[in-house]
Amino acid sequence: MIERTFVMLKPDTVVRGLMGEVLSRLEGKGLKIVGMRLSHMSEAQAKALYSAHQGKPFFNDLIKFVRSAPVVVMAVEGESAVSIIRLLIGSTDSKEALPGTVRGDLSCSKTMNIIHASDSLDSAQRELAIFFKESDLVKYSRLDATWVY
Ligand code: CMP
Repeated sequence: MIERTFVMLKPDTVVRGLMGEVLSRLEGKGLKIVGMRLSHMSEAQAKALYSAHQGKPFFNDLIKFVRSAPVVVMAVEGESAVSIIRLLIGSTDSKEALPGTVRGDLSCSKTMNIIHASDSLDSAQRELAIFFKESDLVKYSRLDATWVY
């Protein structure tokens, strides 16, 4: 099933100049970016995105970190996009993420872990709504989606 999910390149990715590297892994996998914006997250957006972690010891540091520099927020579509992207990015703790994954290759931190992606279709819907209106998203076909062989 074609799924639409939310993906965010975190501030560490922006300030380390790794946006292109991470985007190219998503595009190379065959995923389609249908919405994308580089911006500073507001406090309200940060708290809404991470509401499940409110009250945890790392919550305040997490909010401070995601607002420390711009992020790239994206709406991404593809076959089984939610699970495929979670596999592609690797474990939350970059120190444990396997080589070959985005986090395994590019970071060794739990907070500065490069990328966030929704963990379910329900989360994707909720998280996308924090950053995008339906009218912000574009429609087009990837050439490989229409390839006839
Ligand atoms: P992310 O996939 O964006 O989802 C929630 C984020 O909270 C997670 O990546 C980590 O960056 C951060 N996080 C989760 N657990 C911890 C923890 N124990 N200590 C610090 N940060 C954490």
